[in-house]
Amino acid sequence: MKTFAKIAGVVVLVLIAAAAFLSIKKPASRPASAEKVEATPERIARGKYVVEHVSDCLGCHSDHLLKFSTPVKPGTEGEGGYIFDEKLGFPGVVAAQNITPDAQFGLGKWTDGEILRAIREGVDRGGDPLFPMMPYEHLRNMSDDDAKAVVAYLRTLKPIHKGVPPKKLNFPVNFIVKFIPKPLDGPVAAPDRKDPVAYGKYLTTIGGCHECHTPHDDHNNLIPGQDFAGGWEMTGPWGRVVTANLTPMPYNYMGHATKAEFIGRFKAFANMTPETAPDVPAGRNTVMPWIAFAGMTEEDLGSIYDYLKTLKPIDHKVVTFPDAK
Ligand code: HEC
Ligand code: HEC
Repeated sequence: MKTFAKIAGVVVLVLIAAAAFLSIKKPASRPASAEKVEATPERIARGKYVVEHVSDCLGCHSDHLLKFSTPVKPGTEGEGGYIFDEKLGFPGVVAAQNITPDAQFGLGKWTDGEILRAIREGVDRGGDPLFPMMPYEHLRNMSDDDAKAVVAYLRTLKPIHKGVPPKKLNFPVNFIVKFIPKPLDGPVAAPDRKDPVAYGKYLTTIGGCHECHTPHDDHNNLIPGQDFAGGWEMTGPWGRVVTANLTPMPYNYMGHATKAEFIGRFKAFANMTPETAPDVPAGRNTVMPWIAFAGMTEEDLGSIYDYLKTLKPIDHKVVTFPDAK
């Protein structure tokens, strides 16, 4: 009995030590670079394109209108976005923060290097982990040139003096998130623009297509071997919607759409603004950022098409609007 009590005591001590260690453990990270991003007009223009039309940073980091494709509410660009909390089944509270240049609530006091590191390596100014709903595991593939362009453009947003609710993660998620950030191991080169398949792959990575259109397991990891097969269910104020299978199966859209049809389907929304977007009832609305993506060039959309057509077809039938009458 005595031995048992001793062992139990040791086990408890080990557990307390492990919890103490984990609570002060910082994620893997490297010091933020001291580099100052030079804001040339070309760089700001490229940053605007990436932020607004490819990576849709503002789609997550702003308030929304409950209209077709949940567009950014004008005037709220970068002020902070959706709040995920226990009401939505989230293990705690996490909000996409204010990324405008406001000094108190936004990125006003952050160095360029700290912003670059947050976007691609997943730690905040203090070296604490970002929750991977911020898609840094995918954005780590963003080229150095594009990442700098993003920083240059974010600095031009109108500062908005507004905060989001503080983050709170429940056990064990608060410990698990510390193991996700990974420093980059070197410079990230942009893929060759003259190779549409390689460039299309790049755009589907930094554009979130790969992440949203791949099914996720219970721990929010992409299910291996199911890339672009669709089936990730998203429920929120827009209702319930499921991502489409983008592999070219003969029975689905990517199986039969021509390149011109594909480009045209996006470009059909090119003149739509958040103001003119139609009202759509919950259950028929989508989180696919059609209006934001419509601003991509035909060439870039064509590269995405070329890349998607090279994917291995995966037989996975998806009903995208399961609640539509
Ligand atoms: C799918 C939604 C989503 C997208 C897309 C997204 N973010 Fe985030 N981002 C978040 C969330 C959620 C957080 C908060 C994470 C946390 O607090 O742990 C965040 C955090 C950040 C932070 C850290 C802010 C802080 O105060 O700690 C920066 C900087 C940032 N995002 C910039 C960007 C940029 C730039 C892009 C586009 C290239 C982008 N984000 C795209 C959801 C998103
Ligand atoms: C925030 C999640 C999200 C992101 C990011 C996203 N999609 Fe989607 N996408 C959806 C959802 C949900 C649907 C199904 C509802 C609909 O048709 O709008 C969809 C539908 C589509 C369709 C229609 C397929 C069909 O069978 O009719 C195409 C094409 C498509 N997405 C391409 C893309 C491309 C290309 C990208 C990246 C540039 C992308 N998506 C990024 C969520 C997303």
